[in-house]
Amino acid sequence: VKLTSSRKLDHLRICAEEDVECGDAGFNDIRFVHNALPECDMEAIDLSARFLGHTFSSPLFISAMTGGHPGTKDVNARLARAAEKFGLGMGVGSQRAALEKPDLKDTFSLVRDEAPHAFLVANLGAVQLRDHGIAWAEKAVEMIDADALAIHLNFLQEAIQPEGDHNAVGCFAAIGELCRDFKTPVIIKETGCGISAATARKCWGVGVKAIDIGGWGGTSWAAVEAVRAGKGRSARDKALLTLGQGFAGWGIPTVVSLAEVLATGGPVIASGGVRSGLDVAKGLAFGADLCGMALPLLKPAMESDAALAHAIEAVHRELTVAMFLTGSARVTDLRKAPVHLTGRTRQMIDKDNPARIKR
Ligand code: FNR
Repeated sequence: VKLTSSRKLDHLRICAEEDVECGDAGFNDIRFVHNALPECDMEAIDLSARFLGHTFSSPLFISAMTGGHPGTKDVNARLARAAEKFGLGMGVGSQRAALEKPDLKDTFSLVRDEAPHAFLVANLGAVQLRDHGIAWAEKAVEMIDADALAIHLNFLQEAIQPEGDHNAVGCFAAIGELCRDFKTPVIIKETGCGISAATARKCWGVGVKAIDIGGWGGTSWAAVEAVRAGKGRSARDKALLTLGQGFAGWGIPTVVSLAEVLATGGPVIASGGVRSGLDVAKGLAFGADLCGMALPLLKPAMESDAALAHAIEAVHRELTVAMFLTGSARVTDLRKAPVHLTGRTRQMIDKDNPARIKR
């Protein structure tokens, strides 16, 4: 069984080098209604966005990815410098490795050093929260002086990982207990399978402050674990490969999950398969408060600060053009911009769901 720490490096390499994206998050089923007379100055468009009482320079959120192995430090440092430079929010990867082995703490704490003013989100798995309680949640927040704590849900990955935790009993109770006693806002976050209306309702009910969709249609942890298993030769590896491939299609597409969760409350971060500034614009128009990207930022972050800055600027440029062509001077205007919803995404969104089409 691999140590938590070395698994972190496997994951980074696999995500950067192999094809681990699958599915359709649903953004192609959203089309903006073009405004041929926008009465808006593109150069004066304001990308600032608010979430959990904080003002961000843009609604692009750097989703949780890494930390926990010395080899992840450069990537985390570059992501953090970008968060600071562009005024973005950022999540760190699961802090479990550093909670198990405190000498790995600096792979996370350097994020706060590089981004002293950024809104940072600590990260802990629901299973670790259940097993170690609020003490670990406090340590995770302290480690990066976090503004919020994300509890991630990843039971598909756990089911397929050879070292995965197959028992989810007690995780929801642990989340409820955490929300009752914790000063830092708690975000519930999926990691590629999305959140349903029913799960969202349960979470709001116990005091969760925000939901990060982490929907299907982007990075697939079933695909990542299938690639890992595919590198082995044993019969068990072969079985895990088949299982991973079989579940690569499992999950609620991001846009469908977004509609479901928004029908129950907010605020919400749309993530999972957000691949462009136009996707960000669509997520916002659909009602998200922020839009998160992981994989598209990982590749440039493994390269250089300049590559990462270019990727972020490209997202901002596309978002700005979409805002201009819908006559949206501010992000709050974009949330009112009319869209058409088509295809499977439209079919999947329940007809009685009031959030499904706003107009
Ligand atoms: C992730 N993700 C993730 N999420 C989390 O809550 N804790 C974690 O430790 C990690 N680790 C991680 C590593 C790498 C290399 C990637 C690419 C992703 C999941 C991530 O935050 C996001 O929810 C999904 O990747 C979906 O977004 P994208 O990649 O489709 O934009």
